[in-house]
Amino acid sequence: MDRLLQFVHRDGILDLGWGHPRPELLPVEAWAEAGAAAAREFGWRGLAYGRDVGPGPLIDWLAGREDAGAAAETFVTAGASQGLALVAEVLTEPGDVALVEAPTYHLALRVLADRGLELVPAPGDDDGVLPDAVAGQLRELRASGRRVPVLYLVPTFANPTGRSLPEQRRRALVELARRESLTVVEDDTYRELSYAGAAPPSLWRLAEGAGVVRLGSFAKAVAPGLRLGWINAAPAIVGRLADLGFVDSGGGVNHSVALTMAVFGASGAYDRHLAMIRERYAAQRDALVEGLSRVAAPDGGWFLWVPTPDGVHADDLLAAAERHGTSFVPGSRFHVGGRGGAGYVRLSFSHLPPPDLAEAARRLTRAMTGS
Ligand SMILES: Cc1ncc(COP(=O)(O)O)c(C=O)c1O
Repeated sequence: MDRLLQFVHRDGILDLGWGHPRPELLPVEAWAEAGAAAAREFGWRGLAYGRDVGPGPLIDWLAGREDAGAAAETFVTAGASQGLALVAEVLTEPGDVALVEAPTYHLALRVLADRGLELVPAPGDDDGVLPDAVAGQLRELRASGRRVPVLYLVPTFANPTGRSLPEQRRRALVELARRESLTVVEDDTYRELSYAGAAPPSLWRLAEGAGVVRLGSFAKAVAPGLRLGWINAAPAIVGRLADLGFVDSGGGVNHSVALTMAVFGASGAYDRHLAMIRERYAAQRDALVEGLSRVAAPDGGWFLWVPTPDGVHADDLLAAAERHGTSFVPGSRFHVGGRGGAGYVRLSFSHLPPPDLAEAARRLTRAMTGS
């Protein structure tokens, strides 16, 4: 085990399983400069207990970004994972049903299960959830006496599929949320990693704050080790988050890092970094897509969702892939209880440089064709 990192390196394996950034693309120097500048600018205030909702300089910078929430609608978190756990804590009770997109981010399923929620896959097709069918499902569940407070989904450059929910369905979901008093939890972690112009409008923006809670993260656009993100939600929900006992006890989450991020943002370093990584990740995507046959390139994010050949079970393909020196995450991991997705694999192009991705694609192709 590495004593610093979650990542586990395996000799001889070009691993397409990890949704981690490529180490060379993390902004080591620029972050160190922002940290030094933040220490000068904020002095002891940067090391004191922080304000409950997060520090003003970061919240103001966030509020000035495109597609943002207003300052009163923002709560700084230790990343989207913590954001989801906190939203589950204030919006649900153990025993409630949470609707989840299928497939969806596998570790979100764990976060929701930790709250004691029963996870029920929402109906969908290759483009994502189907709002009318979700409305029917919701009515049925509620008619049977279940509480269904939330629907969780990753509508933009999704993990694991890379796809984005069509705009018409976004609008229909927002409408549904309002009509049925359902909170849509929009995990917007990949929004900034767009490779073909602007990302689709967030559900949060379309809803103008009603019925949608958005989870933002700096993990992909800057660095996961910051453990920094934010929640956009109606001010009443922000108030409930700020009232949680652990915030009262410990102050705002991750205060010093949040202040460094404020400097990193306001100085222009963030936009420069983003422009650089968009170019690099797009090139990585292209290297993997070109190495495989008949795989469509997603417009953003870090993942390809690829069918296995001839209905081969992804677990069997995984064993063959590892014998050929590559790896991935089998599709069933992204379905509740592993029920579904056996004919798909998730490939990540985030972690390896283009030549390694091209070689991984060759190895995977050999595993798929049995050559
Ligand atoms: C959809 C999605 N949400 C959340 C996370 C975790 O985000 P954070 O590091 O901000 O907790 C990931 C990371 O892989 C993700 O893919």
